[in-house]
Amino acid sequence: MKELYCVIGNPIAHSLSPVMHTALLEQNHLDASYVPFLIEKQEFTTAIEGLKALGISGCNVTSPFKEDILPFLDALDSEAKACGAVNTIVARNGRWTGYNTDGIGYLQGLESIRTINETDQILIVGAGGASKAIFHALIHHTDASVTVANRTLEKAVKMVAGTAHRAISLAEAESQLADFTIVIQTTSSGLTKENAALPIRLHDLTARTIVSDIIYNPAETPFLKEAKAHGAITQNGLPMFINQAAIAFELWTGIEADRDLMRNIVLKQVGGK
Ligand code: ATR
Repeated sequence: MKELYCVIGNPIAHSLSPVMHTALLEQNHLDASYVPFLIEKQEFTTAIEGLKALGISGCNVTSPFKEDILPFLDALDSEAKACGAVNTIVARNGRWTGYNTDGIGYLQGLESIRTINETDQILIVGAGGASKAIFHALIHHTDASVTVANRTLEKAVKMVAGTAHRAISLAEAESQLADFTIVIQTTSSGLTKENAALPIRLHDLTARTIVSDIIYNPAETPFLKEAKAHGAITQNGLPMFINQAAIAFELWTGIEADRDLMRNIVLKQVGGK
């Protein structure tokens, strides 16, 4: 029987997951479909029960349901457990396992620039859901020292609690900027207008520092533009976006995802180069 995969969220119309996954399913001649489902918050339980009853094979979960889905899962992988959030579900024989591929997806992108090692001092700006996923991937899969800076300091403090890593204020991040080899922008501030204030000023950035932003549309946020002007090596959020989806596809099918195909599809949709 034809297998069904989906992405659930609200809003969902903007999601590029259906075009990417449909292309991968077709390329691999799999008898399966991938569709978006818009779910109203008050209908969430009914909708999830419906997906279970239909016997879907897998699902992506996006905002605002990455935490709401937890009570419906039979098991969690270590990354999802650490983050308390799930973006991918694998359903096998009616058993649903939750994964979080955002952090590992980010790390794969970062490591395409160079290998991260114990001499790296990494600054993560922001302490929201995406930051948390990246933080856990970095501390579990690299030997780097990680510092989280956030406008609301308590959120960063809570994130690093119980680890050997640090939380600082945005002002401290600005003044200590020269110490970092990698800076990761995870706040939503770059999504807004061209002249939006940067979460931190980059005057003290050392040339050749790797600076990445998890936003991929626009392709160059004001943060990345400023970093480039200071001689940084920059990377936008496209590799993370592609890789998190590729890892989900690989979890579902066991087939390596064609990341070039995925990248071309996304670039075509967002009108990038
Ligand atoms: P996501 O799940 O996409 O990471 P989120 O959980 O809403 O998004 O988190 C947004 C992050 O962006 C938070 O770290 C937020 O800071 P606060 O915790 O202080 O709210 C940060 N953020 C949003 N707008 C910002 C701005 N203009 N300047 C600095 N930080 C900002």
